[in-house]
Amino acid sequence: MVTLDAIRRPVAAELEAYESFLHKQFAAGDGLLGEMLRHALSSRGKGVRPLLVMLAAGLHSDGRGGGIRASLAATLVEMIHVASLIHDDVIDEADMRRGRPSVNARWQSHKAVVLGDYILARVMDIGLRSGQYDLVTHICGSMTSLCEGELMQDEYVHLPGSVTREKYFEIIRKKTASLLGVSASGGAMSPAPAMRSLSANTPGGDSAERMYQFGEALGMAFQIQDDILDYLPTADTGKECCNDLREGKVTLPLIAVMERGIDVPPLATTPVETLQRLVIDNGGIDMARTTMQGYLQKALHILSAYPPSEYRDALANLCIFVGERNK
Ligand code: FPP
Ligand code: MG
Repeated sequence: MVTLDAIRRPVAAELEAYESFLHKQFAAGDGLLGEMLRHALSSRGKGVRPLLVMLAAGLHSDGRGGGIRASLAATLVEMIHVASLIHDDVIDEADMRRGRPSVNARWQSHKAVVLGDYILARVMDIGLRSGQYDLVTHICGSMTSLCEGELMQDEYVHLPGSVTREKYFEIIRKKTASLLGVSASGGAMSPAPAMRSLSANTPGGDSAERMYQFGEALGMAFQIQDDILDYLPTADTGKECCNDLREGKVTLPLIAVMERGIDVPPLATTPVETLQRLVIDNGGIDMARTTMQGYLQKALHILSAYPPSEYRDALANLCIFVGERNK
């Protein structure tokens, strides 16, 4: 089993520098806002996006890293992610996030909305003050995709018949894969031009674009795995099992079953346990896994254009981790 700790090893020092940069930029003061911000910062997840930034920066600088620009990129992607989940939990009326009360459960939805807005406002402020406009424009550009994906998903709630595989891919590309895409390309852009490794400029196009494709494919696999784990009582996600079904969200395991011509009863009036069994018994999880593996293969293929290095190995292991993860 590949561990995240092993994957982090080549960029441990850079991740430490990023953490202290993030805490300095998002210093939480006194009062309600400070308390809420502290809760949001201390309930962060695995840090896959900042890790992606640092490994991509290492890959494109022969290990010299992206310095302060990489810390900035990692902070922006991580905090856009944090804000989007705070808003997502309001939309989904979710009480738990990563085994802890969601911000809306602890402080009510109207305050959670403002906390998410505040974090995004700080993201913009930090980005603009940094003067690193190329990086900030590139990363913050993904925010519109997140909103589009989230709204598109909402249009299909409780409508299993109208969500095709293609629509589902479009939704997850926007709501999840775009942010992993800019994490990888933002990492590739972080080293100063003179530091950018020539060896990373393999034939076949711009390195930032290629890393975007890598991060996007990894992000597609990441969200498919998230949607698979939602069906499994053995998952350790810190969220309730079958949340998606309860919310009427149609994801790949269910779509795969419908593609086999199996009749699915109405989501709103059928017990989630019945729907869960239907999907599992008809191979929906295995079929979704096959699709996920296809995206991971695509990501690994992109990496194979790079010369061997510990960064390339760590990124390949990150692909394996995403496919194997249980939380
Ligand atoms: C989690 O998906 C949600 C997202 C990946 C995107 C959420 C985006 C918004 C709420 C739009 C607002 C955007 C910004 C930039 C603030 P999920 O519900 O499938 O995952 P979960 O099971 O972890 O909740
Ligand atoms: Mg959600």
